[in-house]
Amino acid sequence: MNELQQKVSAIGVVPVIKLTNPTRDAGPLSDALCAGGVPVAEITFRAAGADEAMKIMLERHPDMLVGAGTVLTTEMVDKTIAAGGKFVVTPGLDIEIVKYCQEKGITCFPGCTTPTDYHAAYKLGLEVLKFFPAEQSGGLAKIKAMSAPFPMFKVMPTGGISLKNLAEYAASPVICACGGSYMCPDKLIQAGAWEEITELCRQSVEIVKEARAK
Ligand code: 3PG
Repeated sequence: MNELQQKVSAIGVVPVIKLTNPTRDAGPLSDALCAGGVPVAEITFRAAGADEAMKIMLERHPDMLVGAGTVLTTEMVDKTIAAGGKFVVTPGLDIEIVKYCQEKGITCFPGCTTPTDYHAAYKLGLEVLKFFPAEQSGGLAKIKAMSAPFPMFKVMPTGGISLKNLAEYAASPVICACGGSYMCPDKLIQAGAWEEITELCRQSVEIVKEARAK
């Protein structure tokens, strides 16, 4: 794992965020995440202005690990880099985007769930993959089965993860960190319920810590 991946792994969870009003919400949301011990954010390009949101968060918390999610094109990689984003997450394995990120020196976590994906990721020299959508693709049982032929990878499962199943994933040595939108649900963002988001982050960090200590 590179330095960024090690830092992500130390935090243990990655909030997946969609911000429809970055000017209003990015600042207080970044405060809420940091206060909860989760100084990391995957801002998805599912809403316009993801780059603006990254910029605002990084101005406020320069050390925060802020990156982009749902990156579908190299143009989105360019926007991420221009905003100061520190990583790129893609839903699937797109070889062009992975190579483009490697050229530009930005860490990419491509979504992989099959032996074919893993094999291609191996040839690309990747070390950490997003396993997406985790629960729907077979969950931890599949992640463990994939580790037999591909023990070199750590994964970031995302999709269907919540406080209920976080411990199960976090306890496995194959897991780098767990991603999820559950820490920043739209309802809480729209309501400006920052303390509740901080609390969800705190609980998540606690669950990961306990699971890893067992
Ligand atoms: C993602 O883009 O990574 C997922 O949509 C997050 O999945 P979740 O909403 O089930 O956490």
